[in-house]
Parts: sequence; C-alpha cells; structure tokens
Amino acid sequence: MPEPAKLAVSNQKGGVGKTAVAINVAGALNQRGHDVLFVDLDPQGNATENLGMRSVYDKDPPSLFDVLSDPNQRDRISELVLEHQEMDLLPSNIDMTAVEPELTLSRRSGQQLALTLEYVEDDYDYVIIDCPPFLGNLMDNALYAAQNTLIPALAETTSKRAFELLFDHIDALNKDYGIQIRECGVVVNRIDVRKRQAQEMITWIEDAFDDTPVWKVRERASLQRALTNGASLFVEEPDSDQIPVFEDIGKNLDRQFLRREAKP
Ligand SMILES: Nc1ncnc2c1ncn2[C@@H]1O[C@H](COP(=O)(O)OP(=O)(O)O)[C@@H](O)[C@H]1O
Ligand SMILES: [Mg+2]
Repeated sequence: MPEPAKLAVSNQKGGVGKTAVAINVAGALNQRGHDVLFVDLDPQGNATENLGMRSVYDKDPPSLFDVLSDPNQRDRISELVLEHQEMDLLPSNIDMTAVEPELTLSRRSGQQLALTLEYVEDDYDYVIIDCPPFLGNLMDNALYAAQNTLIPALAETTSKRAFELLFDHIDALNKDYGIQIRECGVVVNRIDVRKRQAQEMITWIEDAFDDTPVWKVRERASLQRALTNGASLFVEEPDSDQIPVFEDIGKNLDRQFLRREAKP
C-alpha cells in the first residue's frame, strides 16, 4: 500500500465545524471503501465524544499525551487505537490539556505527531487529523504531519481574519521546516441561506480561493444529531441533504491523492 494521504482539518477559530467536517469527511472516505485513521488532536476531545468514545477521554496513561511528549513511548501509539464502525480512532485524553508546554520543551516540537504516526499509518489509506482551536504546538504537529489541510470556515466576515492568521502561520511553518503545506479545500459550513452576509462571504471565499475547491455545507440539525449519536451522517442520517456534499469531498480527495474508490 502507498503512503496514506494525510489531512489536517484546521482553523484556529472554534465552533466553525472542524470536528463536524472531519468526522463526515472520514465517513465519506469510509463509504468509498478506504481505511481511515481519525486523530483527535484537540485536548477538549470533542471528536472522541462525538464518535461515542467519551469514556476513554478520562482513561489512565498511556494516552496521546504520552506518545507525543515522550520519545521512548512513541511506539505505544498502536495500543491507543480504537475501532469505530466507520474508522479507527486515536482518541484525545484529559492529559492532552497539558501537552503544549511539554512539546515546547521537546527537541523537535513540531514533529512529534509525525514521528509517532509512523508506527501505525501504513495500515491506512487516509489519516484525518482534527485540530484544536488555537495556533500552537499541537496545530504545528498536525500541519507538519499531514502537510495537507482542509479548512472549514463560517460564512461570516470574521473568517477573513481567521484565514489571514492561518495562512501567516502556515507560511512561517513552511519556512521553519522547509515544507510546502497544501490547501486541499475550504468547507464553508453552517450556511444559513436566509442571511445576506452568508452569500456575500461565500462569493468572497470563492474569489479568494480560485485554485482550491470550496464546498458549502448548510446549517442542519441532522449534522448535530449524527454527532450526538456518535457517527457520521452516512450512518446516522443517511437521508440528510448534506450527504452529497461530503460524497463530493471524498471523491475530490481521491482525485487529489490519486486514490481509487475501493468498494468492498
Ligand atoms: N453544518 C452544521 N449544522 C448544524 N450544526 C453544526 C454544523 N456544523 C457543526 N455544527 C455544530 O456546531 C458546533 C461546533 O462545531 P464543531 O465541529 O465542534 O466546531 P469546531 O471543531 O471547529 O470547534 C457543534 O455543536 C456542531 O455539532
Ligand atoms: Mg473541534
């Protein structure tokens, strides 16, 4: 199997739908027959909870904290992977709230996730990393490990500043590590078509990202319900009118990463 395609779902703004988009993109890739590893890198553990694994968030060590902060424990990552019906999950943990300063002290502060993923990633077609809502070491680790990003954003003017900050940060990271992080797409999320500002922002985003796909996801109770019930729309809300959007993202990612649909 070739190297997995890795994708960091990132935006330092909270509540834009990183977790919702990441889980549904993972669900779409699973539908296309791919093996997906989902990494919950947010110390708040929303994805871990939204995938029905709330109890492991409080579990005793080792956790993601240990494999990221102690090079001698990196290989224990395989002990941490859990099976969800749609994907494998590397869950977050309460200890992750203390990982930022640990990473600052470590020698290769931005590379720890990449180094630990090496022990498990060969089993997967895709690795989807759900980022925390701040620009710090964890975000650097996600961006460095994936070197590809999918950016959820709200159809609000506040998103302009969020993009600016994110791209400044990515530019700096590219220089520091001699890498070239790629934008795989923008997902404008929680769109309320009744708001005029929404349409104006969608147009602005489409103009700003002329070479990058821009997808549009509506504000829908079904998305919220699926997450509360521990899976993607594909399992929990198969009649949702937003499924075609995520199917299209899955199809497009396969094209970008030269993957074939692998229906069982
Ligand atoms: N398209 C949507 N329609 C309705 N609710 C949504 C949608 N996308 C996200 N949400 C909800 O909005 C909240 C924030 O989304 P979340 O994915 O947790 O954002 P982030 O990970 O960026 O902080 C969550 O309660 C989530 O269920
Ligand atoms: Mg989140």
